[in-house]
Amino acid sequence: MSFSLTLPDRVKVVEVGARDGLQNEPDPVPAPTKVEFIDRLSGTGLACIEATSFVSPTWIPQLADAGEVFRAITRKPGVSYPVLVPNERGMERALEAGADTIAIFNAASDSFNRKNINASIDDAFKRLARVAEIAQAENVAIRGYVSCVLGCPYEGEIDYGVVARVAATMDAMGCYEISLGDTIGVGTPLRACRMLEAVVRDVSLDKLAVHFHDTRGQALANVLASLEFGVRTVDASVAGLGGCPYAEGASGNLATEDLVYMLHGMEIDTGIDLEALIAAGRYITGQMGRAPASRLGRLPEGRRRHRYTT
Ligand code: HMG
Ligand code: MG
Repeated sequence: MSFSLTLPDRVKVVEVGARDGLQNEPDPVPAPTKVEFIDRLSGTGLACIEATSFVSPTWIPQLADAGEVFRAITRKPGVSYPVLVPNERGMERALEAGADTIAIFNAASDSFNRKNINASIDDAFKRLARVAEIAQAENVAIRGYVSCVLGCPYEGEIDYGVVARVAATMDAMGCYEISLGDTIGVGTPLRACRMLEAVVRDVSLDKLAVHFHDTRGQALANVLASLEFGVRTVDASVAGLGGCPYAEGASGNLATEDLVYMLHGMEIDTGIDLEALIAAGRYITGQMGRAPASRLGRLPEGRRRHRYTT
């Protein structure tokens, strides 16, 4: 018997815990703690750390301190720090704080969008067109997110053709990367690949990232299937922080530590120091008075490393 897995030598991991994770915390996390958390993440070898979100503080009070946090972090050369921007007001605030990379977002579901950003898909794109125009004029790089790519909390099944259309519009708006989000963690490897198959008809595979919430324990399997499909960029959240306040029941993202353990164990380079990453996850969950949700983060130090002998 033999087997064949078509896997890359290197994967880019995008850390979203400081934004996707902390946006959903019921208790406030003080700005200096967020800054210390992001600075610790910068010391792990991560090349992309989503730092915060310039959305309405009425909608997401947890990140109302976005400007204060972004100004205070120590930006490491070679690391990018995208910030979420929903509209022109958010773009102004991001520019004032000195952001040079933003992330715009839209869903493949009108119902989800109305709850999350108070707009239909098309109306959100009208706002985002203005954001993209300003970003281009100011030389700011744009990342894009498509939410609900494998299911919607309000509409149920999602037409992958709509996912492809939203992703293609972001591509045309100049996004350097488009992250496909399973916001409520309903996907399976088969569905993830069917969705990717639809999207790559319109958007080049090398521009795509995947973003799986781990609500039903499928995230790591979905990543493996996406890697075999040819995706090379994966979003994750240290300590499994996260969720979306406008998607009831959505749990945290795939935990970055567990992802990196799998990648390194498959001889895939990430440039990340796993122990430093675990320490960053333990730091932020310790500040919040709880244990990390990652499997690796909960293992005692002596049991984290495993040496393969064959
Ligand atoms: P709205 O209420 O329709 O906005 O919200 P508005 O334009 O009518 O403004 C209302 C007030 O908010 C005004 O103030 C604005 O100035 C202010 P007032 O005149 O009443 O004093 N305002 C702002 N203030 C600061 N920054 C801003 C801003 N915008 C307006 N940027 C809006 C529309 C889009 C603003 C709102 O719905 C919003 O902020 N939503 C964000 C929700 C959110 O952040 N959700 C989570 C992120 S998405 C996610 O997690 C999914 C992802 O992880 C991928 C996945 O998992 O699928 C990315
Ligand atoms: Mg998310």
